[in-house]
Amino acid sequence: MSGVPTLNPFSPGAASISHLFMAILFVMLAIFLLVAALVTVAIIRYRDRDGAPEARQEFGNPRLEIVWTLIPALLLAVVFVFTVRTIHASDPPIAGHRPDLRVIGHQWWWEADYLGSGVVAANEIHIPVGRQILVEVESADVIHDFWVPELGRKIDAVPGHPNHIWIRADKPGVYLGTCAEFCGNQHAWMRIMVVAQPAEEFAAWQRDQLAVPAVPESGVAAEGARIFRDQTCINCHAISGTAGNQRIGPDLTHLAGRRIIAAGAAENTPANLFSWLKDPDSIKPETHMPNFQLSDAQAHALVAYLETLK
Ligand code: CUA
Repeated sequence: MSGVPTLNPFSPGAASISHLFMAILFVMLAIFLLVAALVTVAIIRYRDRDGAPEARQEFGNPRLEIVWTLIPALLLAVVFVFTVRTIHASDPPIAGHRPDLRVIGHQWWWEADYLGSGVVAANEIHIPVGRQILVEVESADVIHDFWVPELGRKIDAVPGHPNHIWIRADKPGVYLGTCAEFCGNQHAWMRIMVVAQPAEEFAAWQRDQLAVPAVPESGVAAEGARIFRDQTCINCHAISGTAGNQRIGPDLTHLAGRRIIAAGAAENTPANLFSWLKDPDSIKPETHMPNFQLSDAQAHALVAYLETLK
């Protein structure tokens, strides 16, 4: 979606934050213009001129001091009331609700576990349109922060301390988010892509995600499947229908259906996948994805296999 995300809300929670931001911005703008105008008048009117007497000096003016204390105090009180209302609107209570989704921050990608269906996704999170989704946010390593500005507030992903957040998209579309807490070298490439779909499309997506892909039996893709098993990819990545069930790196069961790789550092194309496998650092320096010194033939075979994982 285009525009400044914070000013472009697609959920009631995000809208309440956006309105508060705009209201405070206008108050601040009014104060700024008033102060700038007064300073300008003072500079012109009381500037040093030849022969002009020294301006009258004021030492203490209780009435003025009370006025300039009361006005800001009143303004702050109004801002406080609106802020408390926004906090309630953007962060409804979770008591009695079970999370729909568990999102786990890793250095530097996002895991998404659908608690109802068992789907495991990475970086690209699908949700049904118009429904409040309760997300449990956790971390596998350091503190991250889950933020999709158009859909809701921010929330920290703290290791050992699950937090909760409601997100919702009232219009189908792709909403971009990011990790909003500095978490190491590739913090900037820890993007979130939320795909909001009509209920039937979302249900179809979940069914597709649960399908177990066939392991290719011949050709280059079969060679790729063998490399996946033998070259220790399997030590970190899961692919259903294979022996791979580790959750250190992203689940690759339906990798080919995703739009991005490396948490947004590159588009998911065969060419980018090839570069990623050959030299992950060329796409994302210091990524935890190791460089296995694959030959071109090995990398091509792996790409051929991964491309079958629709
Ligand atoms: Cu994760 Cu910044």
